[in-house]
Amino acid sequence: MCGIIGYIGSKNVAPLLFNGLKRLEYRGYDSAGVVVSQDGFHIKKDIGKVDEINQKLNLLDISGTSGIAHTRWATHGGVTKDNAHPHMDCEEKITVVHNGIIENYQELKRNLVTAGHRFKGQTDTEVIPHLIEEIMKRGRNFSDSTTAALKSLEGSYAILAMNKNERKIIAARKGSPLVLGVSDTGHFAASDIPAFLEHTKTIVYMNDYDVAELTDNSFRVFNLLENREVQRKIDSVDWDIKQAERGDFQHFMLKEISEQVETIQKAIQQDKKILDDVIQSIRNAHGVFLVGSGTSYHACLEASYVLSKVNRMHVNVVLASEFPNYEHFLTSKSLVIAVSQSGETADVLEAVKSAKTKGSKVISLVNVIGSSLTRTSDAFLSLNAGPEICVLATKSYTSQVALLSLMSYALSGKYDEGKKKLTYLWNEVYHLTSLSVREKIKELAEKLQDKDHLFLIGRGLQYATALEAALKIKEVSYIHAEAFAGGELKHGTMALIEKGTPCIVFVSEENEKEILSNAIEVKSRGGYIIGISPKNNEIFDFWIKVPEVHNENPIVQIIPIQILAYQLAVLKGLDPDRPRNLAKSVTVK
Ligand code: G6P
Repeated sequence: MCGIIGYIGSKNVAPLLFNGLKRLEYRGYDSAGVVVSQDGFHIKKDIGKVDEINQKLNLLDISGTSGIAHTRWATHGGVTKDNAHPHMDCEEKITVVHNGIIENYQELKRNLVTAGHRFKGQTDTEVIPHLIEEIMKRGRNFSDSTTAALKSLEGSYAILAMNKNERKIIAARKGSPLVLGVSDTGHFAASDIPAFLEHTKTIVYMNDYDVAELTDNSFRVFNLLENREVQRKIDSVDWDIKQAERGDFQHFMLKEISEQVETIQKAIQQDKKILDDVIQSIRNAHGVFLVGSGTSYHACLEASYVLSKVNRMHVNVVLASEFPNYEHFLTSKSLVIAVSQSGETADVLEAVKSAKTKGSKVISLVNVIGSSLTRTSDAFLSLNAGPEICVLATKSYTSQVALLSLMSYALSGKYDEGKKKLTYLWNEVYHLTSLSVREKIKELAEKLQDKDHLFLIGRGLQYATALEAALKIKEVSYIHAEAFAGGELKHGTMALIEKGTPCIVFVSEENEKEILSNAIEVKSRGGYIIGISPKNNEIFDFWIKVPEVHNENPIVQIIPIQILAYQLAVLKGLDPDRPRNLAKSVTVK
């Protein structure tokens, strides 16, 4: 989704904005732009990647010490230069970058056009600078006019705005992420921390309806709902900029896959008191809902199998986008466990909102602390995975699975045993991410790279793994991959199996017989069988050995597929970190 960054201070702003944009790239975007304020606005924007735009327009060649910048992921209005941010008012005195959606922009635009404003593009954002301009015409200053303009916006926004004649940046948020960075040499505002992490680890999380005024050496926050100036805590992050850099790896995806040796261990390092409270809330609840989107949803599904098997407990697993349809079942005794890497997924936040309106308790498992989800939940557990930059979720997924698994052990009073089992995985994950295994998987990728379709089957825990595996392959290699519960292929999809159709089969001790018999059904129709299994079998055309670690199988079985997806993307000449049409954090519904 769109990313924004702004800076005001003593440093030359252009390189700060450029590097900030590069660090925001992972969120997904189709165009970008910067504006620097120095005796007027100097604006450069276009469609394409930040590096391409830089080559064409030289984004570094603007001097000045305050400015704002944006990566755009088109929602309203096509991918064009005019629609790229920053946007301006008629007189080019006000400039704005925005992440989110202004739902009432058509009505606002109609009124502004009637009042004589001229628009250059089709975005919802462009109404904002014109609205500020219109209010300023009535004699109000920039700050008051921006506040008044914000009050008339419906929808979600994270906004940065500047006025040509004043040395300040106004930063405002409602429903879209925005965080401030405080340093001795100036102030930052950005969609997320990595955008300015190399300059400061001192941050201020903004709340919804907060409007901050940043100057070279101060910041003040006003809250629109409370209608008064508010104090926001100055925090610090322990993230290291190295975690947000590729280092010696060719891609973030490979780096993050390799990091799982450590991140799984970090996921199970939880404050015991907080964990115990969470476990108690699960015990007390009348109805537990596990909610997530995309990969996080798959982690929820894995957990539902474990909770059923180990804890004899039924949980409702619901896609976040579908959750509002379940709100009729919610009561003040229900517990919603929201799982999200970013903590900013709009569907997840909406689900939490509907749970809250019913008085239900919300606990979240989140990687980005300070995100909207951690601040709207009654309690949260951190995934501790560090920044995940590749659009595809890899290390955050295994962290989610590991943490949910630890919670299941803790629920059945076996916290120590669970921790030991999960700690033991270190060795296995180290081996699975080693060069020798990666080379073996590359051979498989070479065989599959020209395929159009691929099927994946598993039963129980392995069904959830198959779903996540299919998602990984689709997202990054653009090969159509579809997952089925082992027993389901024969109910229709078997018609698609022909000579050479690849089918990945996830085998575990528990369901070995049944899933192998499903695989034989595919093989006898000509299917090419890839076994992800502790033991080899004559029906496998290709075998990837994984250890048998029972309830922890989802962790070790997904890693080879993360690597396969990565290798497929590289072989096909695709960018594994930034797949087409996708965004890391989907902040619109
Ligand atoms: C986007 C990402 C997926 C991710 C999903 C949920 O679609 O591309 O990789 O699984 O959002 O994200 P969350 O941050 O809530 O886990």
